[in-house]
Amino acid sequence: MSISTDSKRKQVLSGMQPTGNLHLGRYFGAIQNWVNLQESYDCIYSIVDYHAMTMPFDPRRLREQVWELVFDIMAVGVKPENIFIQSMIPEHTELAWIFNCVSSYGEVSRMTQFKDKSQQINDKDKDAFISTGLFTYPVLQAADILIYRADYVPVGKDQDQHLELTRNIANRFNQLVGKEYFVLPETLYTDLPKVLSTADPSKKMSASLGPKHHISVFSDADVIRKQIKSAVTDSGDTPVGQISPGVQNLLDMLKASGGHPEMESFREHAISGTLQYGRLKESVADVIISMTETFKQKRQEIASDKVKYQESVAASSQVIRKRAQETVREVKDLIGLMNVPL
Ligand code: TRP
Repeated sequence: MSISTDSKRKQVLSGMQPTGNLHLGRYFGAIQNWVNLQESYDCIYSIVDYHAMTMPFDPRRLREQVWELVFDIMAVGVKPENIFIQSMIPEHTELAWIFNCVSSYGEVSRMTQFKDKSQQINDKDKDAFISTGLFTYPVLQAADILIYRADYVPVGKDQDQHLELTRNIANRFNQLVGKEYFVLPETLYTDLPKVLSTADPSKKMSASLGPKHHISVFSDADVIRKQIKSAVTDSGDTPVGQISPGVQNLLDMLKASGGHPEMESFREHAISGTLQYGRLKESVADVIISMTETFKQKRQEIASDKVKYQESVAASSQVIRKRAQETVREVKDLIGLMNVPL
């Protein structure tokens, strides 16, 4: 790739927490998009392990979870050179501190994700504590984004508030130092399916709900087929003319896996109440199995040569870190802090 084309490409950045395995919900809802964006943008993707510490976590498992997710996303097509591990770039936390001091306590207090997650912790265990890190989580996220001057951030609607905060922090900083230093990032929306649990289509597919509620993209073919076959479709209360959430979920997965010649016909039959569920499920299982075949092969290849892949992500993190270091030096300089001489 030549420098000139590179410099024209917009910078994309996104992050994901290392929790749970890569299931179809996370794949169709985010990672597939990460893979596709690599064609048109300069992309960097982070496994955000500092963020993973904001909720109750197990220090004995954190590192392993990070590597598992790194291997998983590589296996489905995220390029190793585009991946970095957040804790290998400690400048994120240094910038987050500076941002803590230029973000408004009032605004950060209004973040709804903090309220939701605090609630989750309280519901699970009355004695568990809400960490200060959970409160300042979105400030660290702002640092993740601004440190690389990202133009676009592909995230779901639930992250809107965090992106707004990020722009406000960038503006406040720019005003404070009297310079248009930070780029104001935008959310990059793509219409991605919200995949539901096949066992209970009233809930989002999620690893934390238990094995019945998510399908790993690395599952064996017979496991995938069995899970799709037992998918809840319709409890008989869907009026003619409408599609039940369970059936819509299967249609969404069919489409996201690359489609099927009978897709439109399935949809029409679903609306008129004449759908043969067995045939739809058969087709969904077929397309998912054929899509995930190469993922599984690649995942095995990575598993048999872990050190090589770990070294490659350590190397890409080091390259990406240079950019973060440069930003932090400039920021400290602009805001009146001291840099150690190089
Ligand atoms: N908060 C994001 C989420 O829950 C994860 C995240 C952390 C992130 N840092 C980021 C996303 C930077 C985009 C950019 O999905």
